[in-house]
Amino acid sequence: MSIIKIEDIAFVRFSAPNLTEMRLFLTQFGLSCFDGLDGRLYAKGRDGSPFAHVTEHGDPAFLGLGLRAESISDLQLLAEAESVAMEDATTPGGGKVVRLTDPDGVLVEVVAGQTFEPPEQPGTDMLRNDAALKPRQRSSVRLAAGPAHVIRLGHCVLNVGEFRTSEHWYKDRFGFITSDEIEARPGTSMGAFMRCDRGDIPTDHHTLFLAQLPSGKGFNHAAFEVASFDDLMLGHNHLKSANRTPAWGVGRHILGSQIFDYWKDPWGHELEHWTDGDLFNADDGSNKATVQDLLAVQWGPPHPIFAGKFAPSPKVAGFIMALSVRFKRLFRRSPQGAPA
Ligand SMILES: [Fe+2]
Repeated sequence: MSIIKIEDIAFVRFSAPNLTEMRLFLTQFGLSCFDGLDGRLYAKGRDGSPFAHVTEHGDPAFLGLGLRAESISDLQLLAEAESVAMEDATTPGGGKVVRLTDPDGVLVEVVAGQTFEPPEQPGTDMLRNDAALKPRQRSSVRLAAGPAHVIRLGHCVLNVGEFRTSEHWYKDRFGFITSDEIEARPGTSMGAFMRCDRGDIPTDHHTLFLAQLPSGKGFNHAAFEVASFDDLMLGHNHLKSANRTPAWGVGRHILGSQIFDYWKDPWGHELEHWTDGDLFNADDGSNKATVQDLLAVQWGPPHPIFAGKFAPSPKVAGFIMALSVRFKRLFRRSPQGAPA
């Protein structure tokens, strides 16, 4: 039983040496930027939440993530269980905040009671015809070029130092449910896609993905839901014409099923556009999956580690990941000598 159950991810926090350059990139990415009273650069989508991305001046870095609790009373429970203060949030939207640090030192701010604005309707949500159903009749498709319409922050992926330790930390506090656990080799898990426990309310296949990779711990990417597939493609063309740096896409994932498009911000932090992802409720259980399932696509270009002449096969990549996980466990023994 977890201390509380969070309802969604709220924001990601960065520092960057040039807020003007960050503003330009985020605007081209499809977020709406505004200056905070605290000197930070804030950016929001169209779901009415006060902000989804915040940058302060400094060396380029990922500084942490925000999660949204269902209520201030839940937040109070969390504060008491963790023996920390629940404070007034000074960020846009106000409310309350509890600040925690995860096992890898990542700042996790849990917020509640924020003021939301009315959501904006996306502009490209038109009827789509296919071979079986043709709901759009006597009208044409005419799309306006420009940035994607980012609706909301959907998930964050963290590369963690030790998967089981981080998994327990996040599940024990926030009630995450595993959607798909990734086994690098049978019996050697290296990560999991985790969704929020909203009971019978369907929720994104993953709000958090924790991955233990040979490259070590750190930020992997943050992913923003856009209005539609057309919108994602318009956003792709816009970022391409602005000479931004693509990372992977456009394609459709296997786990979570999203159509994805990854880009790098000016300092190399990866942000994703996605649309058309799976939704599950608390009764939908958990699955085991392979590295092939994780990195292969239903359509689209291969993951960058599988591209190029000397790319490893998914089997070899899985073997290397499993070796890394096992090697780490070997040197992480309890004082009694039993494997941790
Ligand atoms: Fe993602």
